[in-house]
Amino acid sequence: MNKIKVAVAGVGFIGPAHIEALRRLPGIEVVAIFNRGEDKVRSKATTLAVPQYFDNYNEMLETEVDCIHICTPNYLHYQEAKLALQKGIHVVCEKPLATTIEEAQELVKLARETGLVNAVHFNIRYYPMVRQMKAMREKGDLGQVYSIIGSYLQDWLFYQTDYNWRLEPEQSGESRALADIGSHLLDLLEYVSGCRITEVMADMNTVHQTRKKPLKPIETYSGKVLEPVDYQDVKINTEDYASVLLRFDNGNRGVVTVSQVSAGRKNRLSLEIAGANKTIAWNSELPNQLWVGERDKPNGELLRDPSLFYPEAAGLISYPGGHNEGFPDTSKQLFKEVYEAVRVGEPPLNPTYPTFEAGLRELVLNDAILRSAKEARWIVV
Ligand SMILES: NC(=O)c1ccc[n+]([C@@H]2O[C@H](COP(=O)([O-])OP(=O)(O)OC[C@H]3O[C@@H](n4cnc5c(N)ncnc54)[C@H](O)[C@@H]3O)[C@@H](O)[C@H]2O)c1
Repeated sequence: MNKIKVAVAGVGFIGPAHIEALRRLPGIEVVAIFNRGEDKVRSKATTLAVPQYFDNYNEMLETEVDCIHICTPNYLHYQEAKLALQKGIHVVCEKPLATTIEEAQELVKLARETGLVNAVHFNIRYYPMVRQMKAMREKGDLGQVYSIIGSYLQDWLFYQTDYNWRLEPEQSGESRALADIGSHLLDLLEYVSGCRITEVMADMNTVHQTRKKPLKPIETYSGKVLEPVDYQDVKINTEDYASVLLRFDNGNRGVVTVSQVSAGRKNRLSLEIAGANKTIAWNSELPNQLWVGERDKPNGELLRDPSLFYPEAAGLISYPGGHNEGFPDTSKQLFKEVYEAVRVGEPPLNPTYPTFEAGLRELVLNDAILRSAKEARWIVV
């Protein structure tokens, strides 16, 4: 079996996580990385044991690679994905796919025209319990979906001194908490429940109207501590918090909240779906258990165990029950499905993995939510 050659663009926090997940799959070789700053990318290549490194994206595209993973800041995704597709290279892109609907539409079109494999790293779909929830809903265990309550809460931007490129719209886009973590939540909500969001009513807040920007660059989640003289005051105009009322195509309702300033909530996506037969509730900080709410018998708890799961979900489990799997496993499982297509050389008719279409859908939803918050009214998606 020929090895599939892969390059990874952006090796801050999530790029190395992609590399680790890729290395857990057979027949894949990470041959190159790209990042700005020659010293940085050279040192990352040594740490990550990747043979080739580049601080020029176009030069990296000249090397022999089959697939590129885009893990740079959001504003670079569109250009990097476009150049790769034009070179005939399959693309796995981090979320959000782009920073505008038009860019995402162009990428969807280009991917279709080139016939190349295209995926967005909506990895939270790949917790086995999430697939199990989807399978339960599809098999009628829940009955009609009455309501959905979701949240995605974090605390890594809790302090006024917490700073990251995501706070700068030129790099992150017009939306922050929603684009960054709301994109995962809304993708998951539609994916699991099968409900399409038709209308939104949003309210947002920027808790820290100014933040203290470090005068030295720091990577996401690096937890570095600086002195007061190392900061400058910066005006913030993207949301720390947002709540959105939702209307679904089945006539029922839901609500989601995202926040990056909730102390103690490290990275907690929570989804509760109330159906005509039962309610199910799951959160990503306890990913191997599902709460099952009943009206006429005691409530239950399902633990991640391939022997108790529907086959559709059991396929995402690599270890027996009680041998916990978590965040790093989600990327491995997503890439497993994507690389089946890469090995064939084209996307399947109905991809099981999230494609650029899913990335575009998030931008459409996000745009409606931003408009709703600005105009203080319901917006039809
Ligand atoms: N799916 C997930 O769970 C998940 C988690 C984290 C991040 N992400 C996404 O991944 C992307 C990267 O996020 P991160 O947390 O790794 O950020 P990060 O800041 O930790 O890493 C970004 C890397 O890109 C490099 N970079 C910045 N500007 C560049 C440029 N102009 N050219 C080349 N390299 C450049 C930085 O030096 C850094 O190494 C974002 O789009 C984010 O939304 C997804």
